[in-house]
Amino acid sequence: MDIVSIRDLNREQIEQVLERSEKMIPYARGEKSSKALDGKILATLFFEPSTRTRMSFESAMMRLGGRITDLGVPAMSSISKGESLADTIRMVEVYSDIIAIRHPREGSARLAARFSSKPVINAGDGAGQHPTQTLLDLFTIKRIKKDFDKLKVVMVGDLKYGRTVHSLAEALSSFGVELTFVAPSALQMPKETVKQVEKMGCKPKLTNHLNETIADADVLYVTRIQKERFPDLAEYQKVAGMYRVDRKLLREAKSDLIVMHPLPRVDEIDPEVDDTPHAKYFEQAFNGVPVRMALLNLVLGGEL
Ligand code: NCD
Repeated sequence: MDIVSIRDLNREQIEQVLERSEKMIPYARGEKSSKALDGKILATLFFEPSTRTRMSFESAMMRLGGRITDLGVPAMSSISKGESLADTIRMVEVYSDIIAIRHPREGSARLAARFSSKPVINAGDGAGQHPTQTLLDLFTIKRIKKDFDKLKVVMVGDLKYGRTVHSLAEALSSFGVELTFVAPSALQMPKETVKQVEKMGCKPKLTNHLNETIADADVLYVTRIQKERFPDLAEYQKVAGMYRVDRKLLREAKSDLIVMHPLPRVDEIDPEVDDTPHAKYFEQAFNGVPVRMALLNLVLGGEL
């Protein structure tokens, strides 16, 4: 099975991943060990920068006794000789059991899945989707809030180019939450995502005022302005630094509001927030390990 879009998983499958992720926590921390993926190889292909996604995939595989083969820097691979993505994938699939790919072009993971008989996991395709980030975001919310029903989730920042919010909004819309999208109009949630969310029975609010949404929010999901996706740097400069979450803003918030961020952050969350009980983004980043372990285990099989 491929996981290219969060829509490739139904609600039952998502819940199965979240349940198994909970069991993976002591293994993810190194308190227990497992050989569930002994003999299996994960191939990682990162055509865009990554810290958390790549390292947590690697850590997840190794914690379950599996191994990794990595394409390395694309400029040092045969891609620089003009090899197509399709041919690269044809090779990688015979060297591995499962492939994780990140690529700047939307649709690239779907293309890879077409050329691979081994499972392909989308680790981010341009401004498209980032389904494994969504699974760890859902896991983080569920662990802290217990239940999704009626939660008020505010997403703020670059909702146009941010792939994490595209996948997360789609997933959350089927979990009975109330969604608010806060962005400058040039960076609002794409119409297709809004339509998809509405199809699931959710009626998102769209605004550009963060202050007005903070008092009611249960989850504030902050995103980085995706500088690398702007065709024109002058356009980026117009919106850079527009939202900043700091202690002053959080004074208006509920005491149990959680602040999440897929990371990396630039200046959208003041580091002074890190020490408040609201800050959950580092815990969220750790959750990438148990969640990716659960996913790899479900896709590749093997007893813990
Ligand atoms: C995100 C991404 O790559 O989409 N990072 C991540 O995977 N944790 C968010 C971002 O780069 O802003």
